[in-house]
Amino acid sequence: MYENIRTQAWLVAKYPCIGLWIFLLPGIAAFPQFPTLLETAQRLQATILDLGCGLGQDLRLLAVHGIPTERMWVLDIEAQLWRLGYQLFRDEGRMKATFINADFQKTCVAEDDRFSALRGKVDLVLGSQFVHLFDWDGQIAASKKIVGLSKPGTIIAGIQHGRKQARNHIRPWGTMFYHNRESLMQLWDIVQQQTETRWTIDISVVTLHDWGMQDEDMEWMPEDRMGINFVFTRES
Ligand SMILES: C[S@@+](CC[C@H](N)C(=O)[O-])C[C@H]1O[C@@H](n2cnc3c(N)ncnc32)[C@H](O)[C@@H]1O
Repeated sequence: MYENIRTQAWLVAKYPCIGLWIFLLPGIAAFPQFPTLLETAQRLQATILDLGCGLGQDLRLLAVHGIPTERMWVLDIEAQLWRLGYQLFRDEGRMKATFINADFQKTCVAEDDRFSALRGKVDLVLGSQFVHLFDWDGQIAASKKIVGLSKPGTIIAGIQHGRKQARNHIRPWGTMFYHNRESLMQLWDIVQQQTETRWTIDISVVTLHDWGMQDEDMEWMPEDRMGINFVFTRES
């Protein structure tokens, strides 16, 4: 069954996270900050948003910890991935997150009615392997949109691939910018300045083994590959 789901997902989304089964790895569950993320999600009426949700494993993790799925929102350009998540987790009817089918790069979150309930209201934004898909300018634009959905206290968390030497790389879906710690800090300095907000930026550089990947999953990647676990908290 799992092989079939991955095959169907691959037809619509040819990302390594699908091909390499990264959607089955622990992700944010392995973060030392996971209890804080859970505490944020457990707040009364907390709103949770998973951007570029894919099959939605991180939200299922929160659901297993008792977070009501009615308070969850998901956004992805590819609706079929979210649908496949129901098959993978066998929870159609129980997973009640609101799905927004949108291209985050093209969507104006300040004006699009589908974001009315989210603007300035999201407590926890999950964004694993999402913003890093874009180039530098695209990442700034996407990050500023996320800030527009936030309020003081909001946490943004996730994992993303990085490179010791930060750089652009052309991928089938476009040019992506791979960060190291310094470049990600620099990007968020710009985002904070331009949005007049202050955030605590917590970046952990890890190995891909730390994520649960195996040598054969990484053979095709450059030597300076690494993982970035991020937790950003809005202070003001
Ligand atoms: C690398 S996958 C990560 C999926 C999931 N977050 C995870 O960690 O397993 C990237 C996801 O972002 C979605 N995506 C890519 N570009 C997008 C865009 N411009 N707007 C919305 N979603 C996008 C893809 O469809 C895919 O589900």
